[in-house]
Amino acid sequence: MSAYTVLLFLHSWSRWLVVVFGLIALYRAYTGWQGRRAFAGADNGIGASFVGSIHLQVLLGLGLYFGLSPWGLKALQAGGAMADPQKRFFGVEHIAVMLVAAVLAQVGRSLSKKRRDDLAKHKTAFIYFGIALLLVLLMIPWGIWNPHRPLARGL
Ligand code: HEM
Repeated sequence: MSAYTVLLFLHSWSRWLVVVFGLIALYRAYTGWQGRRAFAGADNGIGASFVGSIHLQVLLGLGLYFGLSPWGLKALQAGGAMADPQKRFFGVEHIAVMLVAAVLAQVGRSLSKKRRDDLAKHKTAFIYFGIALLLVLLMIPWGIWNPHRPLARGL
């Protein structure tokens, strides 16, 4: 098994951490905001897990993009990538939008922690995490139209 296969396997599976942590974080932020619930340790914990999983995903992605994957920088350098939707997707769109999502999630968590009252903490987390998760969901290559992008790689 090559290092590339391992990295792709990890990047493929840790998407589920981002999606699951993101959905729970969003649900807790929304119900906390609407139900005027106190901002608890679990809210902080799930926010940290969401942001942490995105950071991990970015790290693995950078390894693929600048190192081992034929779909990252190598595809761009080969030329003609912008005219090929798949090459353009990984070479430009996937990396750019995922980096924006990572920044939004991180900024949202920091701002939410700084808010004084609990309602504002929940609301800030909901808005930033919501936009970040939406971008992530839009930019995951779901494999519905592409059999080379399985939902459960290696199974
Ligand atoms: C939350 C952030 C991210 C998520 C959820 C995510 C998710 C995914 C998924 C599900 C795949 C398909 C894996 C497979 O075929 O089994 C993929 C491929 C890829 N991702 Fe990401 N990604 C994220 C961020 C990034 C970033 C920031 C980069 C670049 C720095 C990146 C670079 C790549 C590359 C190059 C591929 C294609 C790998 C290949 O087939 O050789 N990803 N990503």
